[in-house]
Amino acid sequence: MKTIHLEPKEYQPQPPSKKEYGIGIIGCGGIVRGAHLPAYRQFGYRVVACCDIDPAAVQRAQSEYDIPFATQSAAKLAARPEVEIIDLAVHASQRRAVMEQIASAGKPILSQKPFALNYADARAMVDLCARHGVTLMINQQARWAPAHRAIKVLIERGILGHVYSVVLVNRSSQDHPGTWYVALKDFNIIDHGIHYLDLTRYFTGRTPLRVKATTTMVPGQAAVSPMTFIISLEYEPEANMMAAVHFNNIVQTRAAHRYEWFVDGTEGSLIGTQQELMVSFKDHPEHRQVFQIQGRWFPDAFGGSMGELMAAVAERREPATSGRDNLNSVKIAYAAVESAATSQAVELSAIG
Ligand SMILES: NC(=O)c1ccc[n+]([C@@H]2O[C@H](COP(=O)([O-])OP(=O)(O)OC[C@H]3O[C@@H](n4cnc5c(N)ncnc54)[C@H](O)[C@@H]3O)[C@@H](O)[C@H]2O)c1
Repeated sequence: MKTIHLEPKEYQPQPPSKKEYGIGIIGCGGIVRGAHLPAYRQFGYRVVACCDIDPAAVQRAQSEYDIPFATQSAAKLAARPEVEIIDLAVHASQRRAVMEQIASAGKPILSQKPFALNYADARAMVDLCARHGVTLMINQQARWAPAHRAIKVLIERGILGHVYSVVLVNRSSQDHPGTWYVALKDFNIIDHGIHYLDLTRYFTGRTPLRVKATTTMVPGQAAVSPMTFIISLEYEPEANMMAAVHFNNIVQTRAAHRYEWFVDGTEGSLIGTQQELMVSFKDHPEHRQVFQIQGRWFPDAFGGSMGELMAAVAERREPATSGRDNLNSVKIAYAAVESAATSQAVELSAIG
């Protein structure tokens, strides 16, 4: 009977060997105070400056986390000599304008997701950073969440044989009246959903050729766009692989919430939640090996993604989830939006 071992240190994000870089944060909103700053404290990173156009927001971040320098100007933050890495956490609608103010400083940028609200802006930011020699990484930090890393580690070991199916079923609820996200067009696909679309690329190691998407509005919903979708991802026939994401983000009862990845291979299967990973092999089809996952997506993964940028800077290489790489995830999201609107499969090559 196949038995596997999986230690938390194999999948938990770790700080890089050089972690002294001075971090300057632009945008001090909910995600920065709720995840970036707690993770950076946990990982022993050094936040030297913060910026927000809202004086109350920047003051709150500065006082809660003892940040030495605060400003309302992104350009001023970028020009500070002690700022060596810029953590850009404004909304996607502001991203390109702010990047145009800071790129000439030439410093590495970790940009929050979603990278952009259309493909042209994403492409323009990749080109802008390339012109200024800026290392650009998109904060698809879900790839560093312990539960997702554990799945990836097992796939990479090859124990499942040829992986032919990667499916996510995610059931939650974010239809909260008055929030920015219910007012954002196509939020569920392009903003929140992009985490899972990007994770299909991480787990399969492939970018699909085309996608098909189905969505629906729900009577009485607050959000301006559908909060539920099914997206299927199609690859080259030689890949012998398929993937699908069903994200129902308007489930009416908490009791019916779920988060499960199903990864099937020719030798066995794996089912992963945020807390637990179950593996089974065809040589013993009734037997289950279950691992309790140590560590959490929020905030641990945010230490992992910043750590990857620090490592990439130290090693003078392109980071995983670089701006250039992320263009592919952005394409999947916008192809899905178009597919849902037209009821047609959309080729990624048609985007941009
Ligand atoms: N898991 C995740 O990765 C995750 C989770 C939540 C949000 N996000 C993303 O993070 C981003 C921010 O989300 P949030 O929930 O923190 O939003 P938020 O509205 O709470 O915060 C955004 C902040 O940016 C500031 N800001 C706007 N324009 C600015 C500018 N020109 N210069 C400096 N500051 C500026 C605003 O004043 C505000 O304080 C969004 O792109 C969102 O999609 C990612």
